[in-house]
Amino acid sequence: MNIKKEEVNVDPLFAWPLMRHQTNVSDLVNQAIEQIGLTDPYRTNAGNLVCTDMKMLDRPELAELKTAIIEAARFYAYDVLAYTNVEIELLQSWINVTEPGQYHHLHNHTNCMISGTYYPFGAQECPIIFHNPTEFQFTPSTDDAIQHPMSMISRNVVRVAPKPGEVVLWLSQLKHRVDANPLPTNRYSLSFNVMLRGYHGHLGSASGVQL
Ligand SMILES: [Fe+2]
Repeated sequence: MNIKKEEVNVDPLFAWPLMRHQTNVSDLVNQAIEQIGLTDPYRTNAGNLVCTDMKMLDRPELAELKTAIIEAARFYAYDVLAYTNVEIELLQSWINVTEPGQYHHLHNHTNCMISGTYYPFGAQECPIIFHNPTEFQFTPSTDDAIQHPMSMISRNVVRVAPKPGEVVLWLSQLKHRVDANPLPTNRYSLSFNVMLRGYHGHLGSASGVQL
């Protein structure tokens, strides 16, 4: 028997959806992020620097980006996760500065449902790396150049290299890291956490809850 691809249907059950969206945020916003990253107070994170203001998207010069991020989060909640009646609440938003040689440790984001990052200048040389929560014990030798979703099922790590102006969203539990910045320039990104407010589950069931 010779099975043809078009004759087979494979569903990637219980997937971890990663959404990538090219925004058209103006360059003024990107310059503002760089300026804040250069001048604002920051704390040292594990491997890189994080500006201390955790409500960064409330700044007027980033208002356009805030609108774009809430729109992307709404799409993720309604069209990717299939929620039907929730409000998008932006929790924290902060700017990461990864200087040459710095990295970002493996971590996930707790006490939120959706997380994401906006890349004012892209991260094509210094990608964000996601780890498979279900850890394949045996893995085929996969080719990172093949970005078709089906080719990612058996991987334990997936590298995502956003273009300038791209926003990436994922489920907050998903662990991720950034390897050492190989460039002679800073890597800038703006990250955020989102909570979906509303009734989750079914009214009257034992597991429904108002969040
Ligand atoms: Fe993160």
